[in-house]
Amino acid sequence: MEDEKFASAKDSPFSEPVAIPANSRTKRIVKYSICFGLVWFIVHSWFIIPRRYIFVGDPSSHTSACTHSKYAWVTDAFAPKDPQVPHGRLAENFFLTIPNSASAIAASRKYATKPHLAGSDGDLLTAKYFLDLLQHELSIPKGTDDPVYPAGSVASRNATLSITHLTEPVAWIDVYYPVLNTPLDRSLEILGDDGHAAWKAELEEIGDELDSDAYTYADSVGAWHGLSKDGEAEGRLIFANYGRKSDYDELVEKGVDFTGAIVLVRYGGLFRGLKVKGAQELGAAGVLIYSDPRDDGTVTEANGYAPYPYGPARNPTSVQRGSVQFLSIYPGDPTTPGYPSYENSTRTDGTNIPSIPSLPISWANAKVLLEEIDGKNRPVKLTNHVDTKVTPIWNTMGVIPGHIKDEVVVVGNHRDAWVLGAVDPSSGTVSVHEVVRGLGALLKEGWKPLRTIVIASWDAEEYGLIGSTEWGEDFSEWIQEHVVAYVNLDSSVSGSKFGAAGSPSLAHFIRKTAEDLPHPTDPKRTLWDATADRGQLFGEHNDVDSLGTEVETEAMEYIGIRPLGSGSDYTVFLQRLGVASMDSGGFTSTLSDPVYHYHSVYDSERWQEVYGDPGFVKHVAVAKNLGLQTLRLATALVLPFNTTNYAFELEYHLNVVEKLAASSATTPNLVPLRAAIKSLQFASLEFDAEKYRAEFILKGLIRKWHQSQLQREHSCFRSLMRRLRHFFTAVTHRFPCVSKPVTMAAPRSIAGSHSRFPCVSKSVMMAAPCFGKPATMAALPSQPRRPQPLSLPGADEPPAEIEGRPDKNGVDTGMHRIDDEVNVEDGDWPHLPIPHRPKHPHWHWPHKPRHPPRALIAAAKAVRKINQKLASFERGFIHEDGIKDREWYRHLGVAPGKWLGYGATTLPGLTEAITIEKNITLANDEAARLTEAVENIRDALRA
Ligand SMILES: *[C@@H]1O[C@H](CO)[C@@H](O)[C@H](O)[C@H]1NC(C)=O
Ligand SMILES: *[C@@H]1O[C@H](CO)[C@@H](O)[C@H](O)[C@H]1NC(C)=O
Ligand SMILES: *[C@@H]1O[C@H](CO)[C@@H](O)[C@H](O)[C@H]1NC(C)=O
Ligand SMILES: *[C@@H]1O[C@H](CO)[C@@H](O)[C@H](O)[C@H]1NC(C)=O
Repeated sequence: MEDEKFASAKDSPFSEPVAIPANSRTKRIVKYSICFGLVWFIVHSWFIIPRRYIFVGDPSSHTSACTHSKYAWVTDAFAPKDPQVPHGRLAENFFLTIPNSASAIAASRKYATKPHLAGSDGDLLTAKYFLDLLQHELSIPKGTDDPVYPAGSVASRNATLSITHLTEPVAWIDVYYPVLNTPLDRSLEILGDDGHAAWKAELEEIGDELDSDAYTYADSVGAWHGLSKDGEAEGRLIFANYGRKSDYDELVEKGVDFTGAIVLVRYGGLFRGLKVKGAQELGAAGVLIYSDPRDDGTVTEANGYAPYPYGPARNPTSVQRGSVQFLSIYPGDPTTPGYPSYENSTRTDGTNIPSIPSLPISWANAKVLLEEIDGKNRPVKLTNHVDTKVTPIWNTMGVIPGHIKDEVVVVGNHRDAWVLGAVDPSSGTVSVHEVVRGLGALLKEGWKPLRTIVIASWDAEEYGLIGSTEWGEDFSEWIQEHVVAYVNLDSSVSGSKFGAAGSPSLAHFIRKTAEDLPHPTDPKRTLWDATADRGQLFGEHNDVDSLGTEVETEAMEYIGIRPLGSGSDYTVFLQRLGVASMDSGGFTSTLSDPVYHYHSVYDSERWQEVYGDPGFVKHVAVAKNLGLQTLRLATALVLPFNTTNYAFELEYHLNVVEKLAASSATTPNLVPLRAAIKSLQFASLEFDAEKYRAEFILKGLIRKWHQSQLQREHSCFRSLMRRLRHFFTAVTHRFPCVSKPVTMAAPRSIAGSHSRFPCVSKSVMMAAPCFGKPATMAALPSQPRRPQPLSLPGADEPPAEIEGRPDKNGVDTGMHRIDDEVNVEDGDWPHLPIPHRPKHPHWHWPHKPRHPPRALIAAAKAVRKINQKLASFERGFIHEDGIKDREWYRHLGVAPGKWLGYGATTLPGLTEAITIEKNITLANDEAARLTEAVENIRDALRA
C-alpha cells in the first residue's frame, strides 16, 4: 500500500523544532509520550484507516462493511481513476482495436464446421466452447467441474439472483428441459391410380464435395420442421402462394375447399409456423413449404448464375428447415407457457404448435409437385415421423460486474443451429466472441463498467426462442427489477445490407453508434451508410412480386430503425417483460446478393468465406458496433434512451390506426388516447430537461471532487503541519493536551468495531481533519494504484455527443491532449503518457459548498432515479391481461403481427380489434386500455 509513503513522506512532525519550556524531566516525558501517541493516532486515522475502509472500489477491500452501503457505488464509480486505465472515449477506442478478422475466422471455423442442433452433443460442445471463452477472456478461474446447473436447482437460481452482488466476473451454464423433437422417417409421394407411389421425393439435401462440410453433414440432421406434428397425411395438392392470411382468404373467396388437402406454399413473407396455422384452420391435412428461386431475386440460374457450390445461385436440393411453432401465440417451450421448463415442471399440451404434419422441401421437389398440380393433380402422401421428448438445452451465461451492480445490461445471441449454421447463428456468435475478447482486454487493463453486463449464449432459439424465453420466465421479477436494456444479435452477416431494429427509445442510440463507426470496406462512409448497400449480382429475370427473404413489416421505418416484432431472442424481454430492447444490427441478404441458404446444410463455413463475407470484415464491423453499444449502455451516466422519440412514434402509430379505422366500419373513439399521447410528449420534453440538468450537475460535481482530491494531495501535508504546529503549541502551553474532540471522535468509532464502521457518511467525519471542513473530504475516493499522478476526470463518460450533452470541455482538465495522442488506427494500444500533476491546478473551488460530497451523493441519486424512470418507461406498456387471444404477449405498444410472426404490429390490441376482430366494443376497450397505460407512463415520468 502506498500509505507508508504518505506517513513517511517529507518532513516528519519532529523535524520541526518546538520550543519546550524548561520543566521537570518526568513532566516532559509524560508530555512527549501523550503527544507522540496523539500524533500517531492522527496520522494513523487520517492516512491509514481511511484508505483501508473507504476504498470500496478496490475489489480487495470487499470485506469492509462499506461494500454494503447504499451509496458505496457513488464512491466506487466516480472516484478518480488510474490514468493508465482507459475510460470513457479511451475505453471505446481501446475496445475497437481488439476485434479482428483472423480471430473471427478462427472462431467461425470452430463453431460452424460441425452440426450443433439444440439438445445435441455438438450443441453441448459449443456451450462449453463459449464457457471456455468467457472463462479465458474474463479471467474467471476454472474449477475442477464445469459450472453446469440444472434450471430450478439452488445453484442455477443462485447464479442469476446473485448477479447483482458479484464483485468478479462469473460464468456458468443453465440447463433447461423443454419438449423438442427430432426427425425420424419421413417421406413424400405422388400416388398413382393403383394407390402406390408414382413418384417418391428425395427429402434430404444432397451434398457436394466442393463444400466438404456440407458434403459430410448433408443428411446428419434430417430436413424436417422443428416442433412439427408427428403423422401422415394424404390428399389433393393446393398451391397457396406464401400462405399469408390474404393468400388463404383469396382462395376461400374463390370457393377453394381446403378440407383434407395438402397445401403447398412457398417460403417468405411470414413466419413458417403461421403458414401451417392458416392451412390447419381451414381444415387442411398437411403442409409442404418450399424454397422458390423466384424469391432469390436476380441471383438465379435463369440469369446465368451457377448454383452453389459452383456459383452464387441456390442449390436446387437445398431445404430450409425451421420451427413451425405458432410464434405469434407464444414462444418458448410449448409445454410450459409463461413458466420455466425445469426437468420436472408440470407440462401442458402446447397450444402454439400445429396439429397437422408438415415438411420443408427443396425447389427440385417442389417443381415436380407444381407440375403435378397443373397436370393430373393426383393425390399426395406425406409422412412426418418425429421423436418428441424432454430434451436438455444449455444457455451459457457470463457476468461482468459493474460499479452499479443492480443495473444490468444483457447482451444475447443464440448458439444453436439447424445444422452447421455458419450464418445463423455462428456469424453472430463470432461477433459476440470478438466483443467478449474486447471486454476481456479492457478488464485486464483495470477497466470496470458503470453497470453490470450479462452475456448470454442462448440455446434452442431455432425451435422457438426457447433458451431465452425460459430464462426470462424463470427470472421475470429479477429481470424487470434490474435489466435496463436487452441487446440482441442473431446472425451478423448473410449479405450486404446493414439493418437494425429496436424500441423507439433506442432508435437514435442505435443509429448514432453505427454512424460513429466506419463502413467495413469503404473508409469514406459509415457503417450506417451500409443500410443503403445492396448486392451487385444483377440479371434480367426478376420476379417483381417476390417477397424474397425480406421481411414484410407493417410498421414504419422511422429514423431507419424498425420496431421489433419477433423471430429472435429479444421477444421475452420486450414483449413480455417490457425491457427496452434492440436487435443490434447486422448485414442481411438482398435480392442481388449471393443466395443465402437459410437453415440449409449449405449455410456452411465455405459459403460464408467465399460468398457471405470474404475476409470477415463485416463480422468485425458488427462486433465493433455491438461492443460500442454495450460499452455505451453500460457506461453512460444517464441511460441513452429517448422517451420523447417514443412518445412521438406513438402518435405516428395512432395516425396509422386512425386511417385503418376510417377505411373500415370499426371507428373507435381515439380522442382521449390522442390527448394522452400529447400529454406524454410534453411530460417527456420536461423530463428531457430534467435529465440533462441532472447529468450536467453530476458531471460537474464529479469534476470538482476530483479537483479537490488534487488540491488535497497538494496541501494536505502543509495543512497537517500547520495544525500540528498549533496543536503542539497548545499542548506545550496548556497541559493537558487531550482537548480536541473533533479529531478523537472518528478514530474511536473505528477502533470500536470495523464491521460496524459506517461507510460514506462516517468517512465524511473521519476525513474531516485534513481540511478542517467535513464536507470536502467526504467519501474519500480510492487512490490510484500508482502513487502519482492523480487522475483527473476519470468517471466513465460516454462521448459528449450522445444525447447532445454538455461537452466535458466545459472545464479544461488537461486530459484532452492525451485523448488526441491515442492513435487507435495503428492497432496497438499505446501506453498512455502520464499526465504530470500540475503545480497549480487550473481550477479552484469558487465557493466551497457546505457539503460537496453530500451534493455529489444527491446528484448521483438524482441521476439514478432518472435512470430508473428511463428503464421502467417501456415497462409501462406491459398489461397483465396481455393481448387478446395471445395473452403471453403483454406489450400494448408492439407485438409480432398475429399473421406475420417476424414483423411487428404496433398498438396490436387496438389495431387487431379493428382489422381482425372488427368489433367496435373491443376497439373502444383497447383504446381505453392504451389511454390508461400512456397516462400512467406520463405520471411516472413526472413523479
Ligand atoms: C451463489 O453465487 C455466488 C456467486 O457466484 C457464490 O459466491 C455463492 O457461493 C453461491 N451460493 C450458493 C449457495 O451456491
Ligand atoms: C425429476 O424426477 C426424476 C424422476 O422422478 C428424478 O430422478 C430427478 O431427480 C428429478 N429432478 C429434479 C431436478 O428434481
Ligand atoms: C429524441 O427524439 C426526438 C424525436 O425523434 C428527436 O427530435 C431528438 O433529437 C432526440 N434526442 C436525441 C438526444 O437523440
Ligand atoms: C366484442 O368485444 C366485446 C368486448 O371484448 C365482447 O364482449 C363481445 O362479445 C364482442 N362481440 C363480438 C360480436 O364478438
